[in-house]
Amino acid sequence: MKNNITAKFIFYSLLLSSIYANAQKTTLEVDIAKTVTKIQPTMFGLFFEDINFAADGGLYAEMIKNRSFEFDKPLMGWEQPNTKRSSLNMQSGVATPIYVSENKTNPNFCRILINDDKGYAIINEGFRGMGVKINAKYNLSLKAANPEGTIKKIIIQFIDKDQKVLGETVIIPSSKEWKNYTVQFIATQTEAKAKLKITFEGTGIIDLDMISLFPEDTWKNRKNGLRKDIVQLLYDMKPGFLRFPGGCIVEGRTLADRYQWKKSIGKVENRKTMINRWNMEFGHKQTPDYFQSFGLGFYEYFQLSEDIDAEPLPILSCGMACQYNTGELAPIEELDPYVQDALDLIEFANGTIDTPWGKLRADMGHPKLFNLKYIGVGNEQWGPDYIERYKVFEKAIKAKYPKIIIVSGSGPSPDGEHFDYAMQELKKLDAELIDEHYYKSPQWFRENAARYDKYDRKGPKIFAGEYAAQSVSGANPNNRNNWECAFSEAAFITGLERNAEVVNLTSYAPLMAHEDAWQWTPDMIWFNNLESYGSANYYVQKLFSINKGTDLLAITQEGKQLTGQNNLYGSAVKDVNTKEVIVKLVNTAAETQDITIDFKGSKLASKGSLTTLTSPDLHDENTFSDPEKISPKTTVYKPKGEEAQLRLPAYSVTVLKLKIK
Ligand code: AHR
Repeated sequence: MKNNITAKFIFYSLLLSSIYANAQKTTLEVDIAKTVTKIQPTMFGLFFEDINFAADGGLYAEMIKNRSFEFDKPLMGWEQPNTKRSSLNMQSGVATPIYVSENKTNPNFCRILINDDKGYAIINEGFRGMGVKINAKYNLSLKAANPEGTIKKIIIQFIDKDQKVLGETVIIPSSKEWKNYTVQFIATQTEAKAKLKITFEGTGIIDLDMISLFPEDTWKNRKNGLRKDIVQLLYDMKPGFLRFPGGCIVEGRTLADRYQWKKSIGKVENRKTMINRWNMEFGHKQTPDYFQSFGLGFYEYFQLSEDIDAEPLPILSCGMACQYNTGELAPIEELDPYVQDALDLIEFANGTIDTPWGKLRADMGHPKLFNLKYIGVGNEQWGPDYIERYKVFEKAIKAKYPKIIIVSGSGPSPDGEHFDYAMQELKKLDAELIDEHYYKSPQWFRENAARYDKYDRKGPKIFAGEYAAQSVSGANPNNRNNWECAFSEAAFITGLERNAEVVNLTSYAPLMAHEDAWQWTPDMIWFNNLESYGSANYYVQKLFSINKGTDLLAITQEGKQLTGQNNLYGSAVKDVNTKEVIVKLVNTAAETQDITIDFKGSKLASKGSLTTLTSPDLHDENTFSDPEKISPKTTVYKPKGEEAQLRLPAYSVTVLKLKIK
């Protein structure tokens, strides 16, 4: 009994003292006149990987899955609801749906023998359906050959699950030879899970290939381009760079299925379709219908980077397949083609039009240079095999292009044996920019806000290239984009920003996921076939990115940086272009905190803005039905002279922006 009373007394004393501590005012100091270091324009960027249907079925606005019948099951994605009346290539009683065309890289096409034109149809299911919008225009193109001239019409229709027609058009297959046809039609209803139905008038043989369908309304109205809503979300972040095409997709499970940029350029129909390495990677989320058409290839990545004003940052295979899979190695004496790929890529991006690769870029429509400044060698490789290969790449790239900055990798984890080895060796080699990856708990992110405070200022610069707080554990399908993860990342990011002298690039990963076809969670942006939204993590990234400023300032409490004392994290910058001082504060406590900021070194204008991102529950998330549940709210803020008094809500990220006089 006595013990119980003592325990209660201790508990309530502790509670009171913690409430008292939080009620105490915290005074912070920011010296506007003292620049600690310059913030790199690349500080906050994007990591893009074709995972979670991010390219085909996502950013790349193609609506037909398996448009040229090249999947390993050539009719995957295509239904034939009524095969009795007609059939696919019933010749000599053998059903072999696929013939070989003159297209060497994508040789398959579909031959249909129509015995009875009443009711026979082929239907494409899209990427878990097709999103169509009322009154929107859709461009359909296909190749057809009508060898006997007996097929009079090809009828194209959007249908819903009840077979209701939601828009239609007709193609007259006028040639016995292969011919391209293009038609436009309008959807009469909005539907997230439409399908494309193709029927025929006449009987006999018809050959079809490259059946492709895009909305007219794409990003920058580019023909057969990218999804406007998704690119808009990226553009709004004002990203400093775009890393592509991954991630592990760069490496491949084997060397043969590594990402080869040369196969992703040129005419779209000649880009060889191949399996996506994420299709069967996880038992918990298998997607056997996940392939890469490469319609979104390296040319398009460069173009996207230019469109969103981000530095392009391609990562290439270094001759090592994914070490979580086969770990297949290209022998050092056979590394030349891999190194040549890197050199040729630099020429493709930066070569004048009188160089072979520069000419190809110009022929594709971009005579101007893409101004590539960075190239990555390998993704998440580790061990001596990587260092050995990195040296070969570094020597060759620097010999020909001394100004290109090479990104090296430190493996899949921000600590441990592989990481320590990579850092030690890369430092010895004077590596310029090292990519670190962190998929850790929210607590880890909060506890590591000071990670870079003691990093060697003269050593390699850091690219915080892949990070995301995992609410359950790494690569776990139950991970959520919840508020605790998002504000814990914000706490960590204040540490990245405070160390802008070392940390020059940062990006959340992965970037996006299809609601019905993802393999990996959490992801910054979620989309379905009609809509997309930014997670709470997206808004954290965006707040930092659009407020990155130009010069780092110190923000201190009693002379110390804010690295989580009393659950408070912070960083401050100045923007010399807009003449603003910007303070970011993260309160990870369950209580509000009262803060006073004393600004020194400059006078402040009487009005500024205060933006707050907050939510009461650690488990809160944005969703399709409430996409802005956790999103920034901005109000006018009036400082008292050179002093700002703020009440930081529990679990909040706050950005205070004041004009400097
Ligand atoms: O972002 C998902 C994966 O995580 C990336 O492909 C890989 O680099 C990391 O392991």
